[in-house]
Amino acid sequence: KKNIVVLISGRGSNFKSVYEASVRENWAEKYGLYISGVISNRADAKGLEYAASVGIPSKVVDHKGYESRGAFEKDLADACDEFGADLIVLAGFMRVLTPYFVDRFSGRILNIHPALLPLFTGLHTHERALQAGVRVHGVTVHFVSAELDGGPIVGQATVPVLANDTPEILAARVLVQEHVLYPRAVRLVASGRVKLDGNKVLMDEEASRELAIL
Ligand code: GAR
Repeated sequence: KKNIVVLISGRGSNFKSVYEASVRENWAEKYGLYISGVISNRADAKGLEYAASVGIPSKVVDHKGYESRGAFEKDLADACDEFGADLIVLAGFMRVLTPYFVDRFSGRILNIHPALLPLFTGLHTHERALQAGVRVHGVTVHFVSAELDGGPIVGQATVPVLANDTPEILAARVLVQEHVLYPRAVRLVASGRVKLDGNKVLMDEEASRELAIL
């Protein structure tokens, strides 16, 4: 049995896509995978309402209630442990994590970033992709390291950039692919088919085909 804990800050559409895949594909029976809890750093995150509606326990750890990043991350990490986290899935979680947290769950944290890394780390990725004039854009799922959006890549999905795109239109096109890629990446990592070895990602060929969405 392996527990997946999802960290969110807002809408929670990626959390929903992972949860729906886990039900549709029967992850519990087939792979022994369970989404044991959701944690938000914001009490008003829409994703918390969704968690409640499907009966997944949730907890709020509000960063604003803490003097230091260290104190916030200690409680965040303890909350992950309380949900028995084997894998931590960042799904629109908008806090940067320090080496304290990353090392405590070394090789067991995934993030989804709305760009083709290593291009466009950080914020406003769709606006910056349009500004740069790239003709292909997309999304990346990666293991979290101490370097912001810099960890080893698990999977990517691409979308075209079309004439007349706005950041919003492009974001929506990328989001469709996020919802395809993230459930696959979470399933493959949680079930041990894809793993981190030092700073290299190891996987079989079938997994690598599933994780490159062109
Ligand atoms: C997603 O597009 C995700 O890739 C992005 O935030 C959105 C969250 O949406 N993540 C980041 O920008 C991480 N820095 P969601 O709450 O509906 O999943």
